[in-house]
Amino acid sequence: MSDHHDGIEEHDNHLPNWWLVTLFGSIVFSFAYWTYYETLGVGAAQAQELAGEEAALRALREKSAPPISDESLLALSKDQKVVASGETIFKTNCVACHGMRAEGSVGPNLTDAYWLHGGKPMQIHGVITKGVTEKGMLAWGNVLGDAKVRDVTAFVLSLKGTNVQGKPPQGEKDP
Ligand code: HEC
Repeated sequence: MSDHHDGIEEHDNHLPNWWLVTLFGSIVFSFAYWTYYETLGVGAAQAQELAGEEAALRALREKSAPPISDESLLALSKDQKVVASGETIFKTNCVACHGMRAEGSVGPNLTDAYWLHGGKPMQIHGVITKGVTEKGMLAWGNVLGDAKVRDVTAFVLSLKGTNVQGKPPQGEKDP
């Protein structure tokens, strides 16, 4: 025993057996675990399996997503969350040519009842997807992807009848 100025006596007790068992047990376990998953390739195989399952799930989701139609787009144009998402997409990508309130500038006013390429939901969706590139309207399908094109279409549809003062009507009146 050394001298103690703090009054604490130091015992040199053996570590309890349960503690040693836990210590060595966890060392053995971690080594076995590591060997199993990292060196035998089980981990890689699992990662691969997971990737495969995720791909299958994605394919399934895309297949089970209902195909868009006039009706489904019209319904989405009344869904506040979708419209809000579409508005954000519009403000980012479309206002430069269609104006902050879609009142038109380079591109047509999207709030009136007149349409160059038809005012039906699927027609609007088609123009946004494929564009009218020779007239300066880009094909947004490849840029934004299906989900965003759908949302921004819903937003444009939600503007129907708002008739914001802006670029004079172009095209045919949508019946
Ligand atoms: C670079 C300018 C430009 C940008 C950016 C642009 N547009 Fe256009 N857009 C046009 C022009 C120009 C037309 C008219 C094409 C024509 O004359 O046939 C048009 C037409 C349209 C039409 C058809 C209107 C009608 O009367 O039939 C829709 C719908 C439309 N754009 C939506 C969008 C959306 C949504 C975005 C953003 C994702 C967007 N545009 C971004 C220039 C643009």
